[in-house]
Formats: sequence, C-alpha cells, structure tokens
Amino acid sequence: MDSLIIHGGQPLRGQVKISGAKNSALKLMCASLLTAEPLTLHNVPQLADITTMASLLKQHGMEISESGENSFKLRSNNITNFTAPYELVKQMRASIIVLGPLLARFGEAKISLPGGCAIGTRPVDLHLSSLKKMGAEIDIIDGYVVAKAQRLKGAEIYFEKVSVGATENTLMAATLAQGETVLHNAAQEPEISDLVECLIKMGAKIDGIGTNRLTIQGVEKLHGAEHEVVADRIETGSFIAAAAITGSEIELLGARAEHLGAVLHKFEEAGVHVEKTANGLRVKKPREIKAVDITTEPYPGFPTDMQAQFMALMTVASGASTFQETIFENRFMHVPELVRMGAKIKTSGNTAIVTGVPGLRGAEVMATDLRASFSLVIAALAAEGETRISRVYHIDRGYEKIARRLQGLGADITRIKE
Ligand code: EPU
Repeated sequence: MDSLIIHGGQPLRGQVKISGAKNSALKLMCASLLTAEPLTLHNVPQLADITTMASLLKQHGMEISESGENSFKLRSNNITNFTAPYELVKQMRASIIVLGPLLARFGEAKISLPGGCAIGTRPVDLHLSSLKKMGAEIDIIDGYVVAKAQRLKGAEIYFEKVSVGATENTLMAATLAQGETVLHNAAQEPEISDLVECLIKMGAKIDGIGTNRLTIQGVEKLHGAEHEVVADRIETGSFIAAAAITGSEIELLGARAEHLGAVLHKFEEAGVHVEKTANGLRVKKPREIKAVDITTEPYPGFPTDMQAQFMALMTVASGASTFQETIFENRFMHVPELVRMGAKIKTSGNTAIVTGVPGLRGAEVMATDLRASFSLVIAALAAEGETRISRVYHIDRGYEKIARRLQGLGADITRIKE
C-alpha cells in the first residue's frame, strides 16, 4: 500500500489541467452497452475506478481498446454475459449502472447487490422500483438483483428522493423502452447532462436536459457516437481549496465555472476569489479565509463530494463554521484525521462545527474514502512539518496522478511504497 508524504507550507503556482469527470465517464462507459456500434470516449481520466469499470464491462463481453491518451473505443456487439459478480461490484458501487442498459437491450441482468459503503448504507431501492414501473420483474436471489423484462415500457416515474444513480439507470433503460418515460424529481448533476448529451448523439430522444424533469421517447435502436467527458467539477473544487489554504494563485485549465455555482459562491463568501480566464479558471491568492456554513444538497446545491475538502479549508478560517451533511449518513470520517493535525472539530449526528485554528501540524493520518482522502492532502499542504497519508488507493479511485500534478504546481509531495 502506498503513502503520500507531504511537507506543508509551499505555495502552489502555475497551471493544472482538470481531468474528465470520473462520475460522468463511468456512466458513459455503461451507455455503450445500449448499442452494438462503437462508442468513442475522449478525456476519460486514468483512475482505478475506470479500470474496475472496464474489467466489469469486458467480462460482460464488451471490447474496449485505447485510441490515444485518455481515449477509448468501446464496442458491445458481442455481449454474452449478463452477470455483474460480487467480486467487482463490491469494489465499486457504480457497477449497478449496468443494470438499466443490460435489461433494456438484452432483457436480462443479474447484478450483485453492492452492499454497504464507508460513507453510508446507500440502498438501490429507487433504481429497482423505477425499473419495475417500466415492467421489469426483479427478485433478490442470493445477494443478487435478478431482473428480466420482455421490452421495457415507458412510465411516469416520481423519484421520492433525488438520486444520481437511479436517474442514470432509469434514463438509460428508457432510451430503448417502448413509448414515453417521464422522470420527475430527476437528479440534475452536470454528469447527468453529459450522459444525456451522449445518449442524444447515440440517437436517443430526450427532452429536459439540465432540469429535474426528463422526458424520454423510447427508440428501437441506438447507434455509435463520439463524446468528450465533461471536466470534473469536484476535482476543480478540490484544487481551489488546495490553492486557497496555501494562499496561492493557480490556473485550472478546462475548469467549467457554470458547473460550480454553489461551490464558487461559498468560496467567494470565504474570501477566495475565482475568476474566469480564456482557458478555465484562476484562483486568486486570498487575503483571509473567513468561516462560512455549508449544507450539502443535490445539484445545484453544495455537493456532498466537496464537503470534506471545504472542511479542510475551514479548519484554518477565522471564526467557526457549521457543516450539515444531508446526503450520506457517515461522511465525516475525515474529522478524526483532521483533528490529528490540530483541527478543532466537533460532530453531532449530521452536523460538524469547525472552529478555525491559526495553523495545522503534520501528522500520520489515514485516507478513509475518496473525498475524505483529498481533504487530508489539502490540510497537509498547509500544515507545518510532515504529513504521511496512508491508504492512498482511496485517492487513486478519483484523482488522476495526483502526486505528480501537485508536484507540477510546486507542492512538496512524494509517493512512497510501504
Ligand atoms: N438513495 C436511496 N435509494 C436509492 C439510491 C439512493 O435511498 O435507490 C439515497 C442514497 O443513500 C443517498 C442519496 O439517495 O442518501 C443520494 O444518492 P445517489 O443515488 O444520488 O448517489 P450515487 O448515485 O450512489 C453519486 C456519486 C457519488 C456522489 C452522489 C451524490 C457516482 C459514481 N457516485 O452516487 O460520488 O456522492 O452521487 O452526489 O456517480 C464520489 O465521487 O466520491 C462519490 C461518492
């Protein structure tokens, strides 16, 4: 298992290119199951989760070939296996997204139930109930979701709760269903709009892009397409926090301000100014970091995936800030690690109160999940002395070549094998 060694206190400078969004690329790869023709994806980040998804899709029978750096050609003209096994699904919950496409195109799918996750229980009831509404027969047998359908039928679906994954699964299933499907209270994350754009290129008929009501007219067949994965808004926000805590000015190439509304608003309130440039966004050196309160919400609200990184920044703010995590019930695992570095944080249920301290100190800490891990990187970049972050594989799931890219910005960071 690798660790990161960071000596804090170095200001960052220069430019970094923002990678394609993990949470978009994973679903776009699944979309390829909907057609026998090739789907070419560009700007796919090189991440452990992408490799896991590729392994899952290959064992279904998908052909995946690299066609240049960060580009892949996926072809599903010989899908012979409809089972997503536990060994792969337990590594990555996004595996459940093959359910809708497999069921819609082949009429059957057997997907291991993902089970628990470090950040919450994360049930998949909404995925299953909406596919049932479209006519699928679904049973849970020996820990597997076993789904069958002749041809799925369009339906009016009201999601009780906003769910990114349930929206994506149902949306993809609906593209090949018979008749019209309307998704009410659909998730509106930019990654969903990216998927909708790609599906439209593949011949899907979808109205309402970017809204919480998506109307899909099912078609008989989809065809091949070429698509570039949208820039990762969470990676962008993570770099902004890293620049802010080190009092730095950096440029984020390819970053999209329009996908970061609530996040940029909170940074602004905290005294961190971010301006648009011809090629992306520039973070300006902040004069002072002010405490601001955060409540996580579905898009366009403040994303749960930025909560930990923003909290790292708030540990050194002037004043106290309150964090309310409303999406996942166990997403404060970074708190005890940040406390080891000198942060003052108290949690009670889904609330954390962070009282800013003048500075953090390096310590040995442990990465616990993807975003929590990056919050430790942010804290370490500002801390006095050395921080050693173990279990770096969590970061590898969602941040491409992070040590090298931060080195490029001037950070004193090295990756070592334990
Ligand atoms: N939920 C249900 N039933 C369901 C589905 C979801 O109760 O059937 C609940 C969840 O337990 C949670 C809430 O609804 O409380 C929202 O979950 P959602 O389905 O939106 O999350 P997801 O699709 O499983 C994606 C991202 C997460 C991100 C969330 C919220 C991917 C691969 N994952 O998960 O990303 O936090 O949306 O925005 O797209 C990450 O990248 O670090 C990450 C965890």
